[in-house]
Amino acid sequence: MKTVILEIDPRTPNLTEHPGIKEAGAILRAGGLVAFPTETVYGLGANGLDAEAVKGIYRAKGRPSDNPLILHIVEAAALEELVLQVPEQARLLMERFWPGPLTLIFRKRPHVPDEATGGLNTVAVRMPSHPVARAIIAAAQVPVAAPSANSSGRPSPTVAAHVIRDMDGRVEMIVDGGPCEVGVESTVLDLTGEVPVLLRPGGVSFEELQAVLGEVQLDVGVADSRLDQNFAPKSPGMKYRHYSPEAELMIVEGEPAQVREKLAALIQETDKRLGLLATREMVEGLNQYLAQVSVKVLGSRADLEEAAAQLFKLLREFDEEEVDLIIAEGLPLQGIGLAVMNRLRKAAGYQIMRV
Ligand code: TXA
Ligand code: MG
Repeated sequence: MKTVILEIDPRTPNLTEHPGIKEAGAILRAGGLVAFPTETVYGLGANGLDAEAVKGIYRAKGRPSDNPLILHIVEAAALEELVLQVPEQARLLMERFWPGPLTLIFRKRPHVPDEATGGLNTVAVRMPSHPVARAIIAAAQVPVAAPSANSSGRPSPTVAAHVIRDMDGRVEMIVDGGPCEVGVESTVLDLTGEVPVLLRPGGVSFEELQAVLGEVQLDVGVADSRLDQNFAPKSPGMKYRHYSPEAELMIVEGEPAQVREKLAALIQETDKRLGLLATREMVEGLNQYLAQVSVKVLGSRADLEEAAAQLFKLLREFDEEEVDLIIAEGLPLQGIGLAVMNRLRKAAGYQIMRV
């Protein structure tokens, strides 16, 4: 398949009138696949109410078809058509965080196809804020099912070049709207039980959810990785193979001074080709040891948003290099740090050294 690659500046006025956006909408309505930017990561979209179109997503990604997808909408009215009931908690969250990086799980209406929900009786819905995503979904006039636009097992794409690398020739269109602002995927919150459960930390933090809802439970996978313990993932959503880099990846977690000592020792001990993924402050503190090391700066310790925005891109860069071992600095678990560390720990296969 010949993939059309289209650049669209998100600041373009009247995006809904843009011919490229109209074409993207028409492709989606006709059952085709369009990759597009969102504020979190690039998504690989299909008509979420068309079972055949949704199957195309799994084919293009090489993803197991029982892993459920998120339906993307642009108006709250579209939600009522997908779900049986909108709980009061959801209304509070929508008011505060939509449009934005928060995905909510509801009980689904029967016409939402099993292909989109992995056969579950629940459905994940999100209203993105990215202008290009919104214009495309509006043009499609259907809820758009969209997982991250990477091939299964690769890091989520945060720039169009990553999408092109993974999806060129597999989808009808890739829309390049520049880099994604948040850089990690949306927060996924299950609202179908008595107490809301955080299934995946993301762009909206656990603390922000607690401030609105009071009690929020952490799904076992998230909870265990929040408590400073080693653990083997056991919740069903975590059974899929997650991205892990070609090189071995190990995280050193603890107070910065001790982490620095440990990283310095590791760098001096090893004869492997090393990569270092660390904050600017840590890299400065290690400067004297770094001559032979491939260094990637994960933002500043004081600005974890920057770390989130860089993480997947830097992991992809390490994959392009021939390092044998990547050592990473563990970051604080507050705010978006929880999402960053959740992804990093998965990528490391939970190889964590605590100091
Ligand atoms: O930021 C994002 O959420 C991006 C952009 C493109 O919107 N999308 C994304 O989709 O990350 P995906 O498919 O890579 O991740 C969806 C997550 C998975 O962890 C999936 O298991 C969970 O949402 N999920 C979807 N539907 C669910 C459901 N009904 N019950 C529980 N978890 C669900
Ligand atoms: Mg994904």
